[in-house]
Amino acid sequence: MIVPQEIAETVVDPKAYADGRIHEAYRWLRRNAPFAKIAPAGYDPFWIVTRQADIMAVEVQSDLFCNSQGLPAITSNEMRAQLGDRPGGFRTIVSMDGVEHQAYRRLTQGALMPKTLRILEGRIREIARVFIEKMAQTGGRCDFAQDVAFLYPLRVVMEVLGVSEKDEAFWLTLTQAGNTQNSKGTHAQMDDTARAEAMKQYLTGLNNYFVDIITDRRANPREDMATRIANGEIKGELIGNMEAMGYYIIFASAGHDTTSASTAGGMAALAGDPEQFRKLKDNPVLIPGYVEESIRWVAPVKHFARTVTADTEFNGQQLAKGERLMLCFASGTRDEDAFTDPDRFDIERSPNRHVGFGYGPHLCLGQHLAKLEMRIFWEELLPRLQNVELDGPVIHPETTSIAGPQSVPIKFVMS
Ligand code: HEM
Repeated sequence: MIVPQEIAETVVDPKAYADGRIHEAYRWLRRNAPFAKIAPAGYDPFWIVTRQADIMAVEVQSDLFCNSQGLPAITSNEMRAQLGDRPGGFRTIVSMDGVEHQAYRRLTQGALMPKTLRILEGRIREIARVFIEKMAQTGGRCDFAQDVAFLYPLRVVMEVLGVSEKDEAFWLTLTQAGNTQNSKGTHAQMDDTARAEAMKQYLTGLNNYFVDIITDRRANPREDMATRIANGEIKGELIGNMEAMGYYIIFASAGHDTTSASTAGGMAALAGDPEQFRKLKDNPVLIPGYVEESIRWVAPVKHFARTVTADTEFNGQQLAKGERLMLCFASGTRDEDAFTDPDRFDIERSPNRHVGFGYGPHLCLGQHLAKLEMRIFWEELLPRLQNVELDGPVIHPETTSIAGPQSVPIKFVMS
């Protein structure tokens, strides 16, 4: 079926992600044209994939639908002209395929498995307590997204990497260079050219900082992720500086806003639903399920892109080499064929197998860390939180990339 142009425009309209129209568009697409070619103004035509099963099917065929060509997200022609295919010259695992991709993943994968992460639990708990205390200090009213959820995951990622807390401002700039989930919302106000310029500026300014870290960790190895990356070897050779930098950047940027967004969205859902809040507070065993549901519900990574490597037929459609696909994770996680009552936030949803972390060879490398830090946060907060309710409208940012609620005003009582 031909997709109405209005729906095609909605898919790339940042405002539709803020006011919720995107979910109507996704719903229409899932029902009527789940695997369709669209051409919003200013974009080359691309395929939009909205059902969870189709997203998974594309992801597992990574030789046919690759990551190494083109940017990780669908961009306007203007933005692409500004950025080129590899902004800043860094290479990250998101833009690798096949054997090389697996080799780079293996450098950190072991350290991000649940068993290994257990060593970090105590330290993450301390960080969580600091932010929960900050929340308590607000005296019962705060913007949970900005005052609590925004910085906690950055602090955790910095701890895991092993970089100093005093560099927080630098890392904040880094993780905010490409999107809108920042406290001032500055990027949300920019047009494509300005946003591309801001991104390039940040990316090119990073060189010295990272070269210092790489040199230091090669000379003085420590028990941290920065050391593991700087000393990573592939086929017996140290990885290049650009690859090490790319790893730090993807680690921090992929690990920050995503987890902030899911934590903020989880709070927004609870504060609006006293019954589920009470149930969760009284039954801490439900916390892991609640965390999973927060991630499905928010699906902070709205989409990623793939490129077709050879002319092929897929899902009854003729796809040409070089065409791009938009994998809409935020639609897959609300797919009526995969979830009962998908628009309902349900802390006891089971099963809850969703594509919020992606799927296949590029499945989120940090998923266990994200779930661990969120679980710890709620384990620490819930015993102290006597009640909570929304204190104003929940505001979502205008962006088609990574986002969750930007503002979650709450009123609460804490012990
Ligand atoms: C709730 C939090 C998070 C969500 C929802 C999330 C989601 C995602 C998604 C959708 C992808 C793309 C997967 C695909 O293409 O199939 C991804 C990739 C990735 N994520 Fe996460 N992520 C989260 C937290 C983290 C954290 C905490 C880290 C690390 C500190 C991290 C590191 C990465 C990396 C390195 C990749 C690239 C993997 C690859 O290309 O092989 N993420 N994530």
